[in-house]
Amino acid sequence: MTILAVDRVSISFGGVRALDDISAAFGAGEIVGIIGPNGAGKTTLLNVICGLNTPDAGAIRLGDRVITGMKPNWIAGMGLARTFQTSQLFSGMSILENMMTGLHLRSRATLFGAALHTKRMRAEEAELAARARDALDFVGFAAFADQPGDSLSFGQRRIVEIARTLISDPKIVLLDEPAVGLSINRVAELDQLLRRIRDEKGVTLVMIEHVIRLVMGVSDRVVVLNSGQKIAEGRPEQIRENPAVIEAYLGKQVDAGRAAS
Ligand SMILES: Nc1ncnc2c1ncn2[C@@H]1O[C@H](COP(=O)(O)OP(=O)(O)OP(=O)(O)O)[C@@H](O)[C@H]1O
Ligand SMILES: [Mg+2]
Repeated sequence: MTILAVDRVSISFGGVRALDDISAAFGAGEIVGIIGPNGAGKTTLLNVICGLNTPDAGAIRLGDRVITGMKPNWIAGMGLARTFQTSQLFSGMSILENMMTGLHLRSRATLFGAALHTKRMRAEEAELAARARDALDFVGFAAFADQPGDSLSFGQRRIVEIARTLISDPKIVLLDEPAVGLSINRVAELDQLLRRIRDEKGVTLVMIEHVIRLVMGVSDRVVVLNSGQKIAEGRPEQIRENPAVIEAYLGKQVDAGRAAS
């Protein structure tokens, strides 16, 4: 069953065609990898899916609803969460406060409404905090909840950012290079965590990743972008052998060889 569909989407920035007539479908409970060289359009694809960029042409469907042009927080409220390519944690707050920043469960309170409904908002904040603690617990980081954001290592912060996406009980999580800068041991832990998120929570995962071992190991399917175009799509073992993918990307990746072993 398709849960998310990208249908003939194009977007240009100035003269750059970042996405050129891209279609892709994502099934419920799938883990799909998005790979391709720098500037291929991978982050832009996530941005048009989550509503940060509106495509020039084409449509995005989430479940049976067309979400093209909808605001990011509406799309988030429909069960889609994401992480970003660069770390989003602030150092002046606790881990828990960091995770709750910008999240709302139900009420989209206006300033006027906020004054009238402080009690309800406090209850909502308590529920958010409880959910954030559960999410930290799920990734094995419960003990870090009240520590300052900058007390964690770079790799630990990346895990917290993934935990943050789980707070709102999403159907789909989009991940932009979750393994960037992680040690080999941390990549192995991330591999296990991604499988648990899918298996135990039933979440569909769409993951951009340059760490080929991870993306080939964990993905059911891989989509390959190059210069804004989709050049291949298939099971990891098919993608690894695909001459066009090797030519455009895999042949240039340092860890591509190890991935095959
Ligand atoms: N907001 C923007 N304004 C102008 N150009 C943009 C914008 N967003 C993306 N681009 C351009 O679109 C192209 C695709 O960029 P994108 O960030 O999607 O690539 P990517 O595949 O994620 O690359 P990387 O692996 O380096 O993260 C690039 O040429 C980039 O410079
Ligand atoms: Mg990117």
